[in-house]
Amino acid sequence: MKTLAVVGSQWGDEGKGKIVDLLAADADIVVRFQGGNNAAHTLVVNGERFVLRLVPAGALYQGKICVIANGTVVDPIALLDEITELKRRGHLKDDELLKLSSEAHMVMPYHRAIDRAREARLGKSAIGTTGFGIGPAYEDKMARVGLRFDDLADFDAFAQKLQRNIRDKNAYLKTVLKAKPVAAAPLVSQMRAVRSRLLRYVCDTSRFLQEAIASGKRVLFEGAHGIMLDIDHGTYPFVTSSNCGVSAVFSGCGIAPNSLDGVLGISKAYATRVGGGPFPTEISGRLADMMREEGNEFGSATGRPRRIGWFDAVLTRHAVRLNGMWRIALTKLDVLTGLDPVKICVAYQIRGRTLDQVPDSHLLGKVKPVYESLPGWSESISSARSLSDLPVNARRYLQRLQELCGVGLAMVGVGASREATIVVDNPFHDGSDNSNNIAVTNG
Ligand code: IMP
Repeated sequence: MKTLAVVGSQWGDEGKGKIVDLLAADADIVVRFQGGNNAAHTLVVNGERFVLRLVPAGALYQGKICVIANGTVVDPIALLDEITELKRRGHLKDDELLKLSSEAHMVMPYHRAIDRAREARLGKSAIGTTGFGIGPAYEDKMARVGLRFDDLADFDAFAQKLQRNIRDKNAYLKTVLKAKPVAAAPLVSQMRAVRSRLLRYVCDTSRFLQEAIASGKRVLFEGAHGIMLDIDHGTYPFVTSSNCGVSAVFSGCGIAPNSLDGVLGISKAYATRVGGGPFPTEISGRLADMMREEGNEFGSATGRPRRIGWFDAVLTRHAVRLNGMWRIALTKLDVLTGLDPVKICVAYQIRGRTLDQVPDSHLLGKVKPVYESLPGWSESISSARSLSDLPVNARRYLQRLQELCGVGLAMVGVGASREATIVVDNPFHDGSDNSNNIAVTNG
């Protein structure tokens, strides 16, 4: 494949960062196409830990081009902070290596203020957002009052729009949300001060990507969040405010569907979610605490403890169908080591009926999972580099996941570092098998 999209199959935090980082070794260009700094990809490279929120994972390799495309919403100050930190650690040395779409929208402090005030007002029914202003920024985009990086070209016009927005948002913050307004003058000055630092990255990323694809470059599209947080297909309203599936690649980058060769789904060997909303396979108590500790399941962006559950094959099948996934990269298999049995949700039950597909949203919170229990394994698997290095019960678990999800595995993560991965089939390597062949485990 030359062009590949990586998409989360669950509620985000599937470990996409690590897989994208691994695939980026063979890509020329890595692209973020939706979301904002509500996403955070944690990567461990040569023992060094990096948390990337806006800049694509390609930044950790020398010479790869990173694109933040038009479908994203970007907090300009957070972006500059991230760039500064990456430069300090020896990355993104050349400004040409980062391209920011002139059509991407900005997240402003009033978006964050609105996000947080609304969540506080919702109390127990809060969505559990990251509080980074993502929803309100996408609202402004759709309401056609958003500020785009393109607007920075004429700063006076930009400042006028910014002041208009601050006026409107402050009225809403004060009267409806009973929250503190945002000061206009310091924000305008701050934007004036950072304008030129931002403009050096701003360009027409749609044309850049079209030309790159036409010239045969390898392009990796790095999804954020997961399909169950998708604004249309996720567990609405407990979702993020963008499309998180493969469809977002095309609108979010300005490229045509026939320029994408394949979609790799990413899934954890179990499931997690942060924030509110239905989670059919959620578990609690000592087992959940152990898995949370073992898997370091605390939000990279917010530090919140993640909710924990067993692998849900019903949801994963849904994710595979919605996105036309070629294969799945399964992460964090090592976290299941020592558990016996390991469980997989194979269907749901509701009102005496068994469902093998995801029901309408209003029912998902009420279903009971039907589990299949498989024997666990106790041997450490972190040094496994091929499927045949795994204990037989771990291989059985993988085989069963593939059968239930109807899709093969491309990779299996067995530890946090880039190297701790079993690569079954790298889509960027010649000879990669583009068929949906699931028989890959018995080594
Ligand atoms: P927002 O994207 O900050 O508006 O949050 C909406 C929902 O999406 C909340 O449940 C968040 O916890 C969730 N969410 C947003 N980004 C991520 C992510 O990167 N990983 C996991 N959950 C996320």
